[in-house]
Amino acid sequence: MPPPASSLLPLLFLLFLHPHPQCEAADSLAHYCSTDRSTTRLAASNIARVLLTLLSKTPSNGFYATSSGSGNTNKAYGLAQCRQDVRAADCKACLKDAAAQLPKLCPGQADARVWFDYCFLRYDTRPFTGQLDTGYGVFYISMTNISENAAEQRRFDRELGSLMSKVRGRAAARGSLGLAKLQTKFTPFVTIYALAQCTRDLSPLDCSQCVSTAVANFPGFCPHRNGCRALYSSCYVRYEIYPFFFPLAAGSSKAALAASLSIPVVVSP
Ligand SMILES: *[C@@H]1O[C@H](CO)[C@@H](O)[C@H](O)[C@H]1NC(C)=O
Repeated sequence: MPPPASSLLPLLFLLFLHPHPQCEAADSLAHYCSTDRSTTRLAASNIARVLLTLLSKTPSNGFYATSSGSGNTNKAYGLAQCRQDVRAADCKACLKDAAAQLPKLCPGQADARVWFDYCFLRYDTRPFTGQLDTGYGVFYISMTNISENAAEQRRFDRELGSLMSKVRGRAAARGSLGLAKLQTKFTPFVTIYALAQCTRDLSPLDCSQCVSTAVANFPGFCPHRNGCRALYSSCYVRYEIYPFFFPLAAGSSKAALAASLSIPVVVSP
């Protein structure tokens, strides 16, 4: 059962009142900035160095974590993760946008993170790699229900639950690079496409935990909706009723047009 709207209110802050259609890769989906920790000049220059390293090293294998500098307050740590199904050229373009935007989105802040569909980029003056982080998240919720029929809605939520459970297992499996993508037919005409991508610094157990946290929130945030995306610092979890991961399934040119409007909702600890 979805929690009543009133119990979610303390957790939810609508970011925008406008629906957010699928648009150019240059638009980020969400960002997070620490508001209480600012950078020193030296840390800022280490952050700039970390960003350059991430831009040059990540596209070839889809993931990179690095650090620059020394000392407790001046050192900078960075991590970049592209979805492993995305081409290297698209990974590179995504990270270029991310690295250009992030320092402007979070000027002078020590902890900054930005999410795109193809990539995630984060830096901090404190070490964070290898640590599961589902403290801050953004859910993109489709405004369209899969059906108006209550029995069909329940059947969809059940099918989705079992699909996402397989996705969780695959993402955490050895050799998966934190990626799982699966599809299942809901009706002869409707296929559910699902994907999870954990950051590759996570242990399989932490990856599984991150995907679990996202999936556990789907019934509350996106009950029988046409699509939903969970953006956490440790994982990206998404389903749609059109193909969105690569290689694209046949007939997917129609699919992008069928993408329904979704709105972002922030979940804070
Ligand atoms: C979708 O279903 C929910 C019940 O879960 C209902 O409250 C809502 O009005 C429906 N939305 C639309 C657009 O039909």
